[in-house]
Amino acid sequence: MVAPLKVGIAGLGTVGAEVVRLIEQQSRTLSSRCGRPVRVVAVTARSKAKKRGLDLQRLDWAKNPLALASDPGIDCFVELMGGAGEPALSAIEAALKAGKSVVTANKALIAKHGLKLAKAAEQHGGALNFEAAVGAAIPVVKTLREGLAGTAINRVYGILNGTCNYILTRMEQEGLSFAECLKDAQRLGYAEANPSFDVDGHDTAQKLAILASLAFGTKVSQGAVYVEGISSIAPEDLRAAAELGYRVKLLGVAVRTSKGIEQRVHPTMVPKTSSIAQVMGVTNAVTIDGEGIPPITLVGPGAGGAATASAVVADIADVARGIGA
Ligand code: NDP
Ligand code: HSE
Repeated sequence: MVAPLKVGIAGLGTVGAEVVRLIEQQSRTLSSRCGRPVRVVAVTARSKAKKRGLDLQRLDWAKNPLALASDPGIDCFVELMGGAGEPALSAIEAALKAGKSVVTANKALIAKHGLKLAKAAEQHGGALNFEAAVGAAIPVVKTLREGLAGTAINRVYGILNGTCNYILTRMEQEGLSFAECLKDAQRLGYAEANPSFDVDGHDTAQKLAILASLAFGTKVSQGAVYVEGISSIAPEDLRAAAELGYRVKLLGVAVRTSKGIEQRVHPTMVPKTSSIAQVMGVTNAVTIDGEGIPPITLVGPGAGGAATASAVVADIADVARGIGA
């Protein structure tokens, strides 16, 4: 039998716990789709004592993320802690340096250090997969990297933050306050640990910078994105827009212009009859305008443990199949 892919996971919160469950539940399917078993063998998080609804007894508990990343007993390091800096950065660098493949859902880190990490992956022969970092379950990274590898892209835009779209939808449909809707988004596991990243537009900017770099082959540059969030929007604003036949959506837009790549994130009034106005709740939608082909729109769940785990496990499956390394 082909040797199993041995996986180590750092971070057992909303996403990490679902990844452990999904790999367990789908073990036979993964084994047949990848041609080899996929096994979680070691994990770590801040607190070993925390109740997580997972049976972790047969798994090794690493003393910290760096120790897990350097563990010779794992082939693939999965980073699901979050944060643009430590300990995620050093752990990923250590795993790549040791020749392991890395899977992460961390858009903050990829937007800031993606280029350096991609170079390290290339140098040491591992894969760096981050499908879940943009649009959770929507395979938009794969679409840009692989499906449209031969197509020039002129524009990428869409709804890239589940928390904001969930808040705007419930405020409009139920007349609820911004604060109430945000609380529910946090309870449902959609929001970032610091939800101002969501509502102030930075999470969308990070995702847009990643998409722009994939679409246009440019350096990821979050600093180049104009950012305005939704935190000052009140139910009355949404009602006023509705009376005029519009809905408000937080859009991220990256477009090729004669002066270079323009990137912006801001609330936008879209006609109620447009397809983007129909994207409700935690759903995300990304439209890609490619040269010589009609626009392609991908729609799907943009946040939450199960949706994100789906993309993380797909990235792990690619590692098991030897794709990307
Ligand atoms: P959570 O806050 O739910 O979980 C974070 C996990 O990381 C926890 O288990 C925590 O440990 C662990 N952790 C945090 N800091 C450390 C540290 N210093 N050392 C060891 N472990 C640490 O976050 P999510 O699961 O929601 O998000 C994880 C990543 O996935 C983030 O990068 C996020 O942006 C990304 N993401 C999230 C989505 C979502 O819908 N939630 C969607 C797409 C991407 P403990 O449990 O002990 O506190
Ligand atoms: N907080 C993010 C969102 C998670 O709401 O879209 C998914 O990246």
